[in-house]
Amino acid sequence: MFIPPTPDSSVHRRTQLCICFLLLCLWTTICLTSWKFLKSGHPRQQFQPPVPRRETKKQSKTNSSSVITALDMGISDEEWERLQKALNWPGPDQLITQLNLTTSPVHSTFSVVEPKNSYKVGENISVIITARDHNKSPKTYGGDFFKAKLFNSELKASVYGEVVDHRNGTYSVVLLLPWEGQAEVSVRLEHSSEVVQILKKYRDSSITRSHYNGHFEGPGPNKIRIREVVECNLKWGGEGSWRKRNCCCEYKDIKTGTQWQCERPNKLSCDKLVHHSMGRLENPLNPVERQIFTTKLANLAIPGDKQVINVLPDTAGNGTTERCRSGLTTPVPEGFYFKDVWKSFACNTRQFNSTQMGNCLKNKIVYLLGDSTTRQWFEYLEKYVPGIKRMDLHTPRTGGPLMAVELKNNIIIHWRPHGVPLRFTKMLITDLHYISNDIDEIAGGPHAVVVFTIFAHLVFHPITFYVHKVAKIRESVVALLSRAPETTVIIKSGNTAGLKDIFQSDWYAMQLNTVMQKMFKDIDGAIYLDVWQMTSCHYLLEDVHPGAVIIANEVDMLLSYVCPT
Ligand SMILES: *[C@@H]1O[C@H](CO)[C@@H](O)[C@H](O)[C@H]1NC(C)=O
Ligand SMILES: *[C@@H]1O[C@H](CO)[C@@H](O)[C@H](O)[C@H]1NC(C)=O
Ligand SMILES: *[C@@H]1O[C@H](CO)[C@@H](O)[C@H](O)[C@H]1NC(C)=O
Ligand SMILES: *[C@@H]1O[C@H](CO)[C@@H](O)[C@H](O)[C@H]1NC(C)=O
Ligand SMILES: *[C@@H]1O[C@H](CO)[C@@H](O)[C@H](O)[C@H]1NC(C)=O
Ligand SMILES: *[C@@H]1O[C@H](CO)[C@@H](O)[C@H](O)[C@H]1NC(C)=O
Repeated sequence: MFIPPTPDSSVHRRTQLCICFLLLCLWTTICLTSWKFLKSGHPRQQFQPPVPRRETKKQSKTNSSSVITALDMGISDEEWERLQKALNWPGPDQLITQLNLTTSPVHSTFSVVEPKNSYKVGENISVIITARDHNKSPKTYGGDFFKAKLFNSELKASVYGEVVDHRNGTYSVVLLLPWEGQAEVSVRLEHSSEVVQILKKYRDSSITRSHYNGHFEGPGPNKIRIREVVECNLKWGGEGSWRKRNCCCEYKDIKTGTQWQCERPNKLSCDKLVHHSMGRLENPLNPVERQIFTTKLANLAIPGDKQVINVLPDTAGNGTTERCRSGLTTPVPEGFYFKDVWKSFACNTRQFNSTQMGNCLKNKIVYLLGDSTTRQWFEYLEKYVPGIKRMDLHTPRTGGPLMAVELKNNIIIHWRPHGVPLRFTKMLITDLHYISNDIDEIAGGPHAVVVFTIFAHLVFHPITFYVHKVAKIRESVVALLSRAPETTVIIKSGNTAGLKDIFQSDWYAMQLNTVMQKMFKDIDGAIYLDVWQMTSCHYLLEDVHPGAVIIANEVDMLLSYVCPT
């Protein structure tokens, strides 16, 4: 819900007008709401007209707003310290300006430690990575972003490995051997340490990389409807703000405190904001950084031991009988692919055919919140749940909100994207809700399944803003689980995308995942569904929208938690 703008002059008469307008709006809200409720009573979100509010202008004089504190983020100082520790990423001890001193995907190598002729299922192998620069000299500090996996293309099998940074130019990976047969190691250099430094610099700076548009509409002179498009962006302290001064129409969401601002339209007033759309991307790199940050050097396999690893069967078993539920920690590896099926080590996951999907979702209301990656789940369920049909909500196909129903088994599936900032094509601003506000309006209970994801559209803004978002969502989840403990709440992690430019990089997404995972670690009842490992080790080319075979496995995981055995 948006609250529009405040008049910049605090003239008494305008204030009075505002109060009158506010009362009128309140009255309209109540009437509209109760009318909608009586008429339909179905769980589509109620539209709440914006309510003007006065702004106190104390911020502009003091400088305190330029530094974001734990309090601004809505967490304790201790938690912020813990998060910063978890997010800490080493890097060069001095500014590197020569490409030949950065880590090279050609000269860096990996090797298997003390290779054996054969192994048994369930054993580990250890891999050492040695980073070298373009002059072939070993690196002496850490911070390179590597991805490691073990795979067998014929068996369509793979498993993810976590890379440990020794901060001296070497890295190690422990890889589990979960299947019987052959296996091969693959290590990719996603970004050099020097490029990660650049990513970090711009993520935490006030320089705007992502622009957005606000589409204003309303009656102009002679009552002819006019339209104006202006630029909008996030207002987040001093650092994340795109405009510093009190220049703009400001929209503050009362419940989350999130502030959005738009340039003032020439003819229309601030309350005439109707649509939102993504704007241009702006590359902030200077010439030196551009030279170092060449995407030609990103996400490339590095050379190393290509020898085949032979894995013999073992009676110890390679699965788990643990029931899928909340309260499980995400192991590494979380699971592995075998013949295109993800077998989890966290709990006993299974595959669902159409009939079983329909049975599992019988009498369920599923709320899929977030972005296009949860829309992929919606589209998958829509395709496979027998008899399910999409209702025509007269919304854009990709922007939503969307809803599908199956009347015989009483299944309802909702999808909607999260609120701004969001890089979607033009859609109604009233249809963009913050996840936490949406969760606040869900009654919950044994029939409700709430799934959310938030990562891909937040990589353009400071991480402190993401912490703030997650803190608000967490409050809402805790309240939901308190009023309706039987609600299934699932957090879908961000996936790897193979995106490797200054705008979107898997390094950004990985850091956001760390925040989400840490902040929900102790929340009883919330399930963290890790899709990062599932996308990082798959044979398909990484994509922000994972391929169909991955989505199928993700949805099987979801359903394994909804209908555990
Ligand atoms: C405000 O903060 C910025 C950055 O921290 C600093 O450079 C500037 O001098 C401060 N201004 C005042 C008036 O304190
Ligand atoms: C690195 O490259 C620059 C020019 O690209 C060159 O001037 C410099 O000598 C090189 N440094 C080393 C150590 O090779
Ligand atoms: C394999 O490595 C993991 C993580 O380092 C460890 O927990 C596990 O005990 C190891 N398994 C074997 C069989 O050594
Ligand atoms: C780097 O650190 C690791 C772990 O402390 C150590 O085993 C290794 O020998 C070190 N390598 C170099 C080249 O210093
Ligand atoms: C899992 O272990 C069983 C034996 O316990 C073996 O037959 C099976 O092949 C293993 N699965 C995979 C994918 O290797
Ligand atoms: C799904 O699996 C069940 C149990 O194995 C089977 O009875 C049913 O026929 C399958 N349905 C479809 C559509 O394959």
